Amino acid sequence: MTIAVFASGSGSNFQAIVDAVANGELDAKIGLLVCDKPEAYVVERAEKAGVPVFSFNPKAYNGKADFEQAILNELKSRNVELIALAGYMRLIGEVLLQAYPRRIINIHPSLLPAFPGLDAIGQAFDAGVKLTGVTIHYVDEGMDTGPIIDQEAVRIHPSDTRESVQKKVQAIEHTRYPATLQQLSAKGVEIL
Ligand code: GRF
Repeated sequence: MTIAVFASGSGSNFQAIVDAVANGELDAKIGLLVCDKPEAYVVERAEKAGVPVFSFNPKAYNGKADFEQAILNELKSRNVELIALAGYMRLIGEVLLQAYPRRIINIHPSLLPAFPGLDAIGQAFDAGVKLTGVTIHYVDEGMDTGPIIDQEAVRIHPSDTRESVQKKVQAIEHTRYPATLQQLSAKGVEIL
């Protein structure tokens, strides 16, 4: 299966996916990195890993449909079958949702439906919950609202800080996301 990863930032999840392919845990090809912030560190990671990059400045296009069409052309030309969002800080629009129905997944650092949107770990911390975690879900037109594929909980102890919770959450993300992609890949994407 050929996967495209969409990311906007540091790309530690992108790296975990690339590493899982390299060490044989994920039987897939990372065919493309799509990045809406050309200066993001994830672009360097992709170049180092030899993954092709489509990076773009959204302001150079006439709106979301326009840049999603440009992304779609790249995806099609590389035979991408599945899209994995990994810190891509935009809602996916109609063009990509229609082209990839149930073929776009996302990872979010909370137990959805709790704490959707930005700074989910900060939201959990501020709410004083004792349990948060990681959710992997299909993407629909909403913000972190699609059908849930997998979740794992992280306990927040009295001694925890935002940073320590983030560390625990990311450690789970880095194993769970490649593992879910492997399940999808093995079953021809028709599951979960
Ligand atoms: C992750 O915590 C992911 O759950 C969220 O954005 C963050 C991306 O981190 N959607 P990174 O760029 O992969 O390090």
